[in-house]
Amino acid sequence: MKITIVAGARPNFMKIAPIIRAINEHNIEGPKIEFRLVHTGQHYDKKMSDDFFVQLRIPQPDNNLGVGSGTQAAQTAAIMVGFEKELQENRPDLVLVVGDVTSTMACAITAKKLCIDVAHVEAGIRSGDLTMPEEINRIVTDSITDIFFTTTQEASQTLEASGKTADSIFFVGNTMIDTLFQNLENLQAPAWWKEEEFTSKEYFLVTLHRPANVDDMNNLVNLLQNIMKGTSPSRVIFPVHPRTKKVIDQSGYAHPHLYLTDPLPYLEFLYLVKNAKAVITDSGGITEETTVLSVPCMTLRNSTERPETITIGSNELVGTDPVKLVPFLVKVNEGNWKKGSIPALWDGHTSERIVKIIADRYQ
Ligand code: UD1
Repeated sequence: MKITIVAGARPNFMKIAPIIRAINEHNIEGPKIEFRLVHTGQHYDKKMSDDFFVQLRIPQPDNNLGVGSGTQAAQTAAIMVGFEKELQENRPDLVLVVGDVTSTMACAITAKKLCIDVAHVEAGIRSGDLTMPEEINRIVTDSITDIFFTTTQEASQTLEASGKTADSIFFVGNTMIDTLFQNLENLQAPAWWKEEEFTSKEYFLVTLHRPANVDDMNNLVNLLQNIMKGTSPSRVIFPVHPRTKKVIDQSGYAHPHLYLTDPLPYLEFLYLVKNAKAVITDSGGITEETTVLSVPCMTLRNSTERPETITIGSNELVGTDPVKLVPFLVKVNEGNWKKGSIPALWDGHTSERIVKIIADRYQ
């Protein structure tokens, strides 16, 4: 059988890496699953893309659509045009998309319109917040997906409640956690760690890239001022997404305890997560990683599509008003953070389960 695997933006890369690895392992013994890897080019900077391919040993894409940046509509359209040509020239039995980025939705639509089956990894999660492009991407992708792979039972139930049949939904766990377990022994301190005299469990790690938090300069500066006040006298490391960088540069904001750095490669970033006193973020994926690493995490959003990181894991939903961080930071500083545990099937073997299900179905 032939699969086309799609990756477009940074959070996709850690989700496809273990699936490709599991396919290669499957192919040693079983009948071969042939795959083509298509990179849409939604993320294109070395630090947002290439570094992940190298560290996670992802093979070079067979095709890079090179779509680059643009508005939601322009990006979606460019991906669809490029991916349609790819599928016409190399028609697979199945297109596999992961996560919730624009590339996920655009490629799912394109495949389905060519009557090609679609598998969605990380299906069924919902924040209920339609102001986030990711939520629209999730809903649209799942509305036309043929095989759903879910990270939680709750996501499976959401899909069933929306009318999807039980035989199309597979609760398999979390491929991003496969990648985490596969790389845990190899995490490495960033080059500047020693020189800057950072110490394990004595700094906070911050990431912010949601349009609602970063696109307005005054809002972002207010957020940072409150974070610096609340975490004082600890130092704060902030690897800055290109979208956020533009706004920080424009504002000129700086603080003696704030260490700004470029986006980091996977092994360095996860090193910082694992050793942080706590993480403050507006990312969804990072809350899964802090859950597994049992690191206190505060999410600067009003909703989450990953409630298990709160009910089971070490994450708390703070909201977007930074003043609300204060009681959470008090808990961190008092060493009073809740003890979380790891959700079911986040065990490092999700990709093997996915590949077995695909092989059983198509071979
Ligand atoms: C995308 C995903 C988001 C994910 C995030 C992780 C969607 C709708 N959003 O958001 O879910 O959490 O990636 O990073 O798909 N840029 C660069 N270089 C790059 C990529 C982007 O400079 O390699 C800049 C461009 O100015 C671009 C902006 O960042 O306009 C935003 O990039 P885009 O891919 O549109 O969305 P993200 O904010 O990265």
